[in-house]
Amino acid sequence: MRLRNIPRADEIIAESSYVIQDAKTVRGAWKQAFGNDHPIHIEVGMGKGRFITQMAFDHPEINYVGIERYSSVLLRALEKRETMTELQNLFFLCIDARELPEIFAENEVERIYLNFSDPWPKDRHAKRRLPSREFLSRYDKILVPDGTVEFKTDNRGLFDFALEEVEPAGWILKACTFDLHHDGVLSEGNVMTEYEEKFSALGNPIHKMIVCREKNDPAQD
Ligand SMILES: C[S@@+](CC[C@H](N)C(=O)[O-])C[C@H]1O[C@@H](n2cnc3c(N)ncnc32)[C@H](O)[C@@H]1O
Repeated sequence: MRLRNIPRADEIIAESSYVIQDAKTVRGAWKQAFGNDHPIHIEVGMGKGRFITQMAFDHPEINYVGIERYSSVLLRALEKRETMTELQNLFFLCIDARELPEIFAENEVERIYLNFSDPWPKDRHAKRRLPSREFLSRYDKILVPDGTVEFKTDNRGLFDFALEEVEPAGWILKACTFDLHHDGVLSEGNVMTEYEEKFSALGNPIHKMIVCREKNDPAQD
């Protein structure tokens, strides 16, 4: 998603207390940034922020960080955030997710959400796909040992690609559905993203997978 350039987006974001500026200085000190030791869940590529804002509202016992690389898009999330000043558990970052290991230390994140990630359909761009093995190795550096990555999309090609990446990356599939909205277990507590609402309204089934690192799956012991 890349919205038309919005004048002053960079300036508004740079002045917002809801956006962590200079995020690399917070590495290893996210608990202090939130002022408590609640678990940290992040969404990579949050777009306009509907999912993470709702999650933060529904789960005050979790700290959330929404990540989006385009300021014009993050501004939309910020507008939502500003109507919910009571939330104490949600910050945003305007960064490229390739920088994640420079921003979060080892074991600092418990869960990573990838929702309707850009498909990057050309083979030569596969490394840019957020569920690719290259990104899984970045997530490996910041997740707690039993941390998980949860990915959902209506794009079957991207989903199949993500499934094929799991094993070579040394991760394992904990859960998977090709029709989330009709899966009694995985749909429990599901919060729809902007893209999810749009594409499920067109009748597209939503696919979801949850993965964790092989070495830390209790079923492997
Ligand atoms: C297709 S949109 C989906 C937005 C939202 N998650 C949803 O489901 O409605 C994907 C978003 O991920 C962002 N994105 C893609 N790659 C990224 C990266 N490497 N770092 C940060 N954001 C990224 C894009 O800018 C875009 O806003």
